[in-house]
Amino acid sequence: ARARLTLDPTARVGPVRRRTFGSFVEHLGRCVYTGVFEPDHPTADADGFRADVLALVREQGVSVVRYPGGNFVSGYRWEDGVGPVEQRPTRLDLAWHSTEPNTFGLDEFAKWCAKAGVEPMMAVNLGTRGIQEALDLLEYANIRSGTTLSDRRVAHGAKEPYDIRMWCLGNEMDGPWQVGHTTAAEYGRLAAQTARAMRMVDPRLELVACGSSGRGMPTFGAWEATVLEEAYDEVDLISCHAYYEEKEGDLQSFLASAEDMEQFIGAVAATADAVRARKRSAKRVDISFDEWNVWYMKRFHDQGAPADWPVAPPLLEDHYNVADAVVVGSLLITLLRNTDRVAAACQAQLVNVIAPIVTEPGGRAWRQTTFHPFAQASRHAVGDVLRTAVESPTVETAEFGAVPMLHAVATHSPADGRMTVFAVNRSVDTPLAVELPHVPVERLDVSTLSDADPYARNTADDPDRVRPRPSQDWTVDGDTVRVVLPPLSWNVIRLG
Ligand code: AHR
Repeated sequence: ARARLTLDPTARVGPVRRRTFGSFVEHLGRCVYTGVFEPDHPTADADGFRADVLALVREQGVSVVRYPGGNFVSGYRWEDGVGPVEQRPTRLDLAWHSTEPNTFGLDEFAKWCAKAGVEPMMAVNLGTRGIQEALDLLEYANIRSGTTLSDRRVAHGAKEPYDIRMWCLGNEMDGPWQVGHTTAAEYGRLAAQTARAMRMVDPRLELVACGSSGRGMPTFGAWEATVLEEAYDEVDLISCHAYYEEKEGDLQSFLASAEDMEQFIGAVAATADAVRARKRSAKRVDISFDEWNVWYMKRFHDQGAPADWPVAPPLLEDHYNVADAVVVGSLLITLLRNTDRVAAACQAQLVNVIAPIVTEPGGRAWRQTTFHPFAQASRHAVGDVLRTAVESPTVETAEFGAVPMLHAVATHSPADGRMTVFAVNRSVDTPLAVELPHVPVERLDVSTLSDADPYARNTADDPDRVRPRPSQDWTVDGDTVRVVLPPLSWNVIRLG
């Protein structure tokens, strides 16, 4: 099969936003404990952070990290996680039926972010709590000193304020599983009131209202419209959450999962714009896609919740394969293609819990297959996202009908003229020859992640079984490049 991709460096969608490469650390399973934080680990630093994990987070190119949940935040008391560790309470975490020891909290998270070189993004609890507790947390985090709570932070050893800009107003409040789940109108009102009060403390905040926890939710669309009717003037962003998995052996539909994400973004943008029109507002509300990934949710539901309130049990520890990595790459392509509307995105999650990085308690840490497309996109997507003209044959899918076999996006760095094409061949069995006319060809480099076995995985003993490898399957003719993309593959074509 043959496809053609035409690039024009003057046709921009918008700038590549660093916040597209965000991630998420929730108090869930082993994401925090024995994930980022393990004081007894041989690589642990003086703060108890695993240095092997920190190195992988830096290599992955993560820009912003959302914390502390997720479903967890809707029952969380942030004060439990600050101050002398021996005085911190032990609590039940209703979201994950676990016991929370609170030996890691906001102060540790802020330190960890500084070491990892990432921006913190906080969520406030609007499940069991409200405006006052959100204000208290904000005072503790962002006020320099001179008030009870800011002075408490200073007394806990953090002289400088954390200066956290992005705040999520609760989490998935549309979901019946959420502690404090409520109606769109009630949540919208509370989000607006909380936002208004938080801005009185710090007008520079960027505030995210909860959108739907999935496009398949029965209230999808209506939820966004009602929440924004209440909170449009007070918030900057509305969230989207989406998880994908291969269902009943339908690999071809799974590979086209980004079609769903594309429609999701379009629908939420249209809904926000409709509210804007009704309000005659000059402001545009953009999207924070602050949970996205491949998640074998069915496996999790079949397993059920832990019975006896364990501390940091292994939960949601999906073991990713080649196809999962290709889908993750394709979802990143969609986020980049929508850079004019998606202001931030967080892959859920960072370590152990549906994560690109895996650790053994006390032992090794390694990269899952899904680590690689993220790391490459974060590293090589620089400058502007370009509008791309794609001419491609289609593949039939049971879930989305006929979809283009080639899924791609390109970026252009005006600083050095380099262009990078991120491309997925979504066919399970057919190689795709892609022609790129009128491109710079002096410094050409092609890398491909593919495998004869779409279900191949990395393990602690064979951590590099699946990774991007240099491809030689390309030719140059004048200023035209032709690259062959293997079936079911993620590819990075660097031109310059
Ligand atoms: O990321 C796992 C969970 O998925 C989060 O806690 C929740 O917000 C979503 O349902």
